[in-house]
Amino acid sequence: MKLTSKQIKLREFNPGDTPSVHAYASDEQVTRYLIWGPNRWHDSTQFISRAIATAAATPRVNYELAIVENASGLVIGGTRLRLMASDPKNAQLGYVLARSYWGRGLGFEAATLLVQLSAQLHLHSVSATCDPNNIASQRVLKKVGMQYVGYLNCDVYVRGQWRDSLLFTRKIPQLA
Ligand SMILES: CC(C)(COP(=O)(O)OP(=O)(O)OC[C@H]1O[C@@H](n2cnc3c(N)ncnc32)[C@H](O)[C@@H]1OP(=O)(O)O)[C@@H](O)C(=O)NCCC(=O)NCCS
Repeated sequence: MKLTSKQIKLREFNPGDTPSVHAYASDEQVTRYLIWGPNRWHDSTQFISRAIATAAATPRVNYELAIVENASGLVIGGTRLRLMASDPKNAQLGYVLARSYWGRGLGFEAATLLVQLSAQLHLHSVSATCDPNNIASQRVLKKVGMQYVGYLNCDVYVRGQWRDSLLFTRKIPQLA
C-alpha cells in the first residue's frame, strides 16, 4: 500500500514515533477542536501501543497512520481511517498536523491520501465530523470532495462540555 504525495507520505506508527507524536498531541492549540488531548506522555505512549496493536488485527478496522514529511523524514502528524462496525464499507477519517506545519497544503494532501486509501480498501463512502469553529478542517474536507450533510447538535462531550459537529461525507470511486 503506497500512500505518497508531493510533500508527505503515510506509514504505520512504531514505538520510536512517541516523542514526535507527543510533540503535537500535547499542544493545546492543535487539540483545541479534537475529542482527545492535550496528551500527557502516558496518553501518547498508549496511543502508539493501540495503533500498533490495531494494525496487526484481523480483520483490520483501524488505520492509524503517521504523516511523514518527505523532505525531512520527520513524523509531523497523524491520520486515521476507521471502518464503521455497522457498515465496514464505510469509514470515518481524521487528521492532525503539528502546528508549525499548518498552512502549507499538507492537511489537504493527508486527506487526499486517506481518500486514496479508502479506494484501495474498496470502501464505498467516507465520512468526517468537524467542530463548527474549525474553519481550516472544513476547507480541507470540502477541497477533498466531501459534502456537508448535516449539523449534529451536542454530538460530543469533550473536556467537560457538549459540542456540536458538522458532518461531511463523500462516495469513493471504485478502482478498476
Ligand atoms: C486541520 C488541519 C489539518 C489543516 O491543515 P493545513 O495543512 O493547515 O491545511 P491546508 O494548508 O491544506 O489548507 C486547506 C485550506 O484551509 C485554509 N485554511 C487553513 N487554515 C485556515 C484558517 N485558520 N482559517 C481559514 N482557512 C484556513 C487554507 O487557506 C486552505 O484553503 P485554500 O486551499 O482554499 O486556500 C490543521 O489545521 C490541523 O492539524 N489542525 C489541528 C487538528 C484538527 O483540527 N484536525 C481536524 C479535525 S476535524
